[in-house]
Amino acid sequence: MIRNPMKVAFGTMTVTKKSKDMVRRILDSGRVSCGYYVREFEKRFARLIATRQAVAVSSGTDADALALAIFYDFGAKRNDEVIVPALSFVATGNAVLQAGFKPVFVDIDPKTLNIDTDLIERAVTKKTRAIMPVHLMGKPAAMDEINHIARKHQLFVVEDAAEAHGAMYKGRHVGTLGDLGAFSLYVAHIITSIEGGMVVTERKDFAEILRSLRSHGRACKCEQCVVNIASASCPKRFQYGAGEDMRFLFERIGFSAKMNEIEAAVGLGNLGIYKKILERRRRNLLYLMKRFKKNEEFFYSIEEESYEKIGPHAFPVVVRRGAPFRRQDLVCFLTQNNIDSRSLFSSMPTQCSGFSFLGHRYGDFPAAEYIGENGLHIGVHQDLGVKHLDYILATFTKFIKKFTK
Ligand SMILES: Cc1ncc(COP(=O)(O)O)c(C=O)c1O
Repeated sequence: MIRNPMKVAFGTMTVTKKSKDMVRRILDSGRVSCGYYVREFEKRFARLIATRQAVAVSSGTDADALALAIFYDFGAKRNDEVIVPALSFVATGNAVLQAGFKPVFVDIDPKTLNIDTDLIERAVTKKTRAIMPVHLMGKPAAMDEINHIARKHQLFVVEDAAEAHGAMYKGRHVGTLGDLGAFSLYVAHIITSIEGGMVVTERKDFAEILRSLRSHGRACKCEQCVVNIASASCPKRFQYGAGEDMRFLFERIGFSAKMNEIEAAVGLGNLGIYKKILERRRRNLLYLMKRFKKNEEFFYSIEEESYEKIGPHAFPVVVRRGAPFRRQDLVCFLTQNNIDSRSLFSSMPTQCSGFSFLGHRYGDFPAAEYIGENGLHIGVHQDLGVKHLDYILATFTKFIKKFTK
C-alpha cells in the first residue's frame, strides 16, 4: 500500500532566528517579566495597524476581558450588559463574564458568520454598556452599522479581533474601528507570541488603565516600568505620600495578565515577517474561496466584499441544508485523508453548557446553532502551498462523489 504523503495541518508557527537570539539574550539577562521587549512589541504592533496605543497581555481572552473592564472607570457596574454574537469561540462569552458583566447574545447573519446588526437594537437595555462584535474567521463585522447603533445608545464598542490580523474595513485596520480592539496572539494566529493578546486603542487614558488592570489593578501605569528595566529607583513610587508605595496601591479590581519578555521576543520576530505571512495566507484563502465555489450545491463559505479585506485566519466551510451527508462524515473523511479541521465553534448560550445558567433554550439562536452543527474550518497557514490547496479541493470532490454517484 502506498501511504499518502500529503498532510494538511490546521496551524503552524514560525519562530525566527531573530526571536531565538532575543530569547537567549533575555534568559541570560535574567529580566524576563514584562519590560523592554514587551514595550517594543507594543509600539511596533500599534504602528503596524496605525493606532496610537497597544497594551500586551497574556492571552486574547484577557485582551477581551481587560478591554471591557476599563468601563468600570467610566461608570459601569458589575452585572451590566455587553452585547455579543451568539456564535464565536467560547472565549468571547467567557471574557465578558470574567470581566464581571453579563453577556447578552444576539444571533448571527449566516452569510457573514458575524453578528446580525438588524437584531442588535432589540437587545439594548438600560444596563447595556458595550457591544463586542467578533470578526469571525477574519471577516470584518458590519462596523458602520454597529458604530451607528453604539453612538445612538451611548455604548462603547470593543472589537474582538482575535482572528482578524490583517483584516481591513473601508481602508482601515480592523481592531481600530471601535473604542478598543482585542487581538489574540495564540500559536495558530497570523501574529503569534505563543500565548498572548494585544489591546489597541487611540486613547492614552484607556491604555493607562489597561496597564493597571493587567497588573492586579495597581496604581503603576507607566508605559515602561523603570523598576523592571534598569534600576529599582522609581521617581513616582512615593508620590502619593510618605508610607504609600505606588507599587502596592491598588486602584481597581485587576487581573494577573502581563505578557513576558520571551513571548514578546517571539512576537517581535513574527512582526518582522508579518507581510510575508499575511501575503501567503491571503493567497491561500483566496485560492480556496474561488475554487471552492464549484461545490456550492452542498457547501458555502464566506465572501469578500469590495470594501473589505478578510484577514486570512482559516477557511470556513458550512454544509448546506439538504446535503446528502453530515458534517461528521466530512470531518472523518478529511481526517482519513490527513486534512486537519476544526468545528466552526457553536452557539455559546445554547450549545456551550457553561452558559446554561443564563436560561436560554436551544432554538433561540437558530443561525448560530446551525453553524454550530454544520460548520468547520481548515487551515490556510503560511506553510501550505498550492499543492496542499489542490489536494484539499480534490479531497472535497472525492467526498462529494462518494455521496452523489
Ligand atoms: C474570536 C476569539 N476570541 C477570543 C479568543 C481568545 O484568544 P486566546 O486563545 O489567545 O485566549 C479566540 C481564540 O482564538 C477567538 O477565536
